[in-house]
Amino acid sequence: MTQRIAVVGTGYVGLVCGACFAKLGHSVVCVDRDADKVKALQSGVVTIFEPGLETLVFDQMSAGRLSFTTDTAAAVRGADLVFVAVGTPPEPKTGNPDLTAVLAVTDAVADAAEGFTLLVTKSTVPVGTARRIESRIAGRRAGVDIAVASNPEFLREGAAVADFLEAERIVVGTRDKRALEALKAVYAPLIEKGSVLVATTPETSELVKHASNAFLSTKIAFINEMARLCEKVGADVEMVAHGMGLDARIGPEFLKPGPGYGGSCFPKDALALVNAARDAGSPLSIVETVLAANQWHKHAMVTKIGDVVGGLDGKRIGVLGIAFKSGTDDVREAPSLTIIAELVKGGAIVTAYDPEAMDNARPLLNGISYADDALGVADQADAVVILTEWPEFRTLDFAAMRARMRRPALIDLRNVVKPETARAAGLVLYPLGKPPRA
Ligand code: UDX
Repeated sequence: MTQRIAVVGTGYVGLVCGACFAKLGHSVVCVDRDADKVKALQSGVVTIFEPGLETLVFDQMSAGRLSFTTDTAAAVRGADLVFVAVGTPPEPKTGNPDLTAVLAVTDAVADAAEGFTLLVTKSTVPVGTARRIESRIAGRRAGVDIAVASNPEFLREGAAVADFLEAERIVVGTRDKRALEALKAVYAPLIEKGSVLVATTPETSELVKHASNAFLSTKIAFINEMARLCEKVGADVEMVAHGMGLDARIGPEFLKPGPGYGGSCFPKDALALVNAARDAGSPLSIVETVLAANQWHKHAMVTKIGDVVGGLDGKRIGVLGIAFKSGTDDVREAPSLTIIAELVKGGAIVTAYDPEAMDNARPLLNGISYADDALGVADQADAVVILTEWPEFRTLDFAAMRARMRRPALIDLRNVVKPETARAAGLVLYPLGKPPRA
């Protein structure tokens, strides 16, 4: 059954969800206070780098199911469900998510709602936020008929549209029966196709999101630790991960070693969870350790690079990849930022290249230069270091790279280069969690 939906906040999450709700057949209005952004979207311009999103937005607008506005009150009045997808950036001092924008939307919905309205949090919020929203609404406008629900997203950057439309699970937390029915109707096409509905309380739903991200972070921190151990004892971390992953209780996913996890979610969400758990009087020793382990791992990667080149001071290091993962121009919490800053602090002369993320990196990285193409980082280099698994880094002209370098060290912290490829080019390959290959 078609639902009338308003999505407040047309950032990454809001725009993907809005366009996908329209694709499911609903009538969707996306709201943003940034008039320029709304104007651009109204003319079909999508500035977010996300496969399939621009076409989806265009198609849904053409079909008359998706529109954009700056008028929150009007959008709320015309909606059965209002999804809150505004940002919750970390507060500089505590690292806790800043809920100012979420609470402002809550007030706007409380003021404008006409008839039964469902307010749904899509933004990642700390456990207890739905309860806080419920009491805020009750305090602001007595008698208004608004139900609150939590419905977290599990979208990966670079795969967000597919993650939405082929969701493994849809988590809904609410204390209101009507709210559950409305959300079932919203997601009916996906549930019919096999997405599992997890219907629970708001507190549990909020925690599913945080616990999932913390668990995935734990898997990565764990395999990164194993990678470092493998290097010491002469084992191969990829075979260790393969052997572990065949046990269905463990699974093969998220066991790829790298220079540390990053992005807009994992580091921020784990910190928020740790703080919320401390406040609740139930500290999370494992998640706290994972946060520290990820920091430590980045330092260990700098030590590894320093060991290969025989001390960083005065050495030329070429860095391939700045984005926190491939397929995105996002550098938020990217391990490259810490690793490059430490290389520079150690006296190294760094030249970096990334196919998408250099514009975003420039304001955040001081004292380095940028190359126009991947091979440009190799000029007179004592080592080239791969930090992001961009597909193009697998198939570079490694012989040409070697010819431009002072010394032949290729430090592959994503394990994307085949040993035989490096050998044929005359490079010494230093993978992560495996023995070096000359
Ligand atoms: C993540 C979650 O996957 C998603 O469900 C949630 O909603 C938002 O956070 P995203 O930040 O887009 O999505 O990145 P993801 O693809 O999960 O990777 C996170 C980080 O872990 C990256 O830095 C990536 O390079 C690293 N990673 C991932 C590894 O180092 N090894 C792995 O095996 C997997």
